[in-house]
Amino acid sequence: MRHLMSPLDFSVEELDKLLSLAADIEKNPAKYAHKCDGKILATCFYEPSTRTRLSFESAMLRLGGQVLGFSEAGSSSAAKGESVSDTIRVISCYADICAIRHPKEGAPLVGSTKSLIPIINAGDGGHQHPTQTLTDLLTIKQKKGRLDNITIGLCGDLKFGRTVHSLIQALVRYSNVKFVLISPEELKLPSYIKEEVLDANKVSYKEVERMEDVMDSLDILYMTRIQKERFFNEEEYLRMKGFYILDEAKMKLAKEDMIVMHPLPRVNEISVNVDNDPRACYFDQAQYGVYVRMALILTLLEVEV
Ligand code: CP
Repeated sequence: MRHLMSPLDFSVEELDKLLSLAADIEKNPAKYAHKCDGKILATCFYEPSTRTRLSFESAMLRLGGQVLGFSEAGSSSAAKGESVSDTIRVISCYADICAIRHPKEGAPLVGSTKSLIPIINAGDGGHQHPTQTLTDLLTIKQKKGRLDNITIGLCGDLKFGRTVHSLIQALVRYSNVKFVLISPEELKLPSYIKEEVLDANKVSYKEVERMEDVMDSLDILYMTRIQKERFFNEEEYLRMKGFYILDEAKMKLAKEDMIVMHPLPRVNEISVNVDNDPRACYFDQAQYGVYVRMALILTLLEVEV
């Protein structure tokens, strides 16, 4: 039995296989419509979510399975003091696979230690969001045709943005990927990721504050929201909110084939006027999230495809 806690839990070869499966599911959905008949997915979300929870549920329903779960800690027995590991142990009796999101870093890992079924980390605090990374990799592969030889700008809250942390870990395994880290001083990428992931893999990166200075060099611009819920005070959040706003004027500085990604939700960091630009890929990205989660469920449940 396998869990998914980090994007590194899959080898590059396994990831390639999973992304190919997701691409095939997109092309031939009917082929997979009954692959999970009789199976149940539990979604245990201790933190708010639209895309991750509902795309997981959509994925299982599209595979012929069923879903159960809770969408806030207050409606589960966590409100009475039950531990994550006890909850997950019990959920193992009710479902075949479980996706868990929790505000505490490492909570899904703790839950997985007592689990009898595969556990998927659907986001743990400011740490990791591996299924968003699978979604991001599929989006890059489908839109750019490759995962190597790219220059990617990661922009916004690089300190608390778990999607960025997971994506960097995954992309350093491909050749000639260059990172441009665009953030204010206060929201720079944590040193442990620079040292243990970028430096350790001898990966080229630069840090800048102004997105205008680097737009023309990027193949991909990955925008992120300032993570309000991880700030200790409102004043600091309000100072940072609005630091980066991608608009039509800035898009004019970019390559014609650059793509704009965003894990969503967005607040104000991408103007709605950019949505109609053919380079804006964030809603396609949300759609790819369903296919990749279908592929992940099939893989972890070891369903014959
Ligand atoms: N991208 C993402 O994790 O979105 P949700 O918080 O809506 O799940």
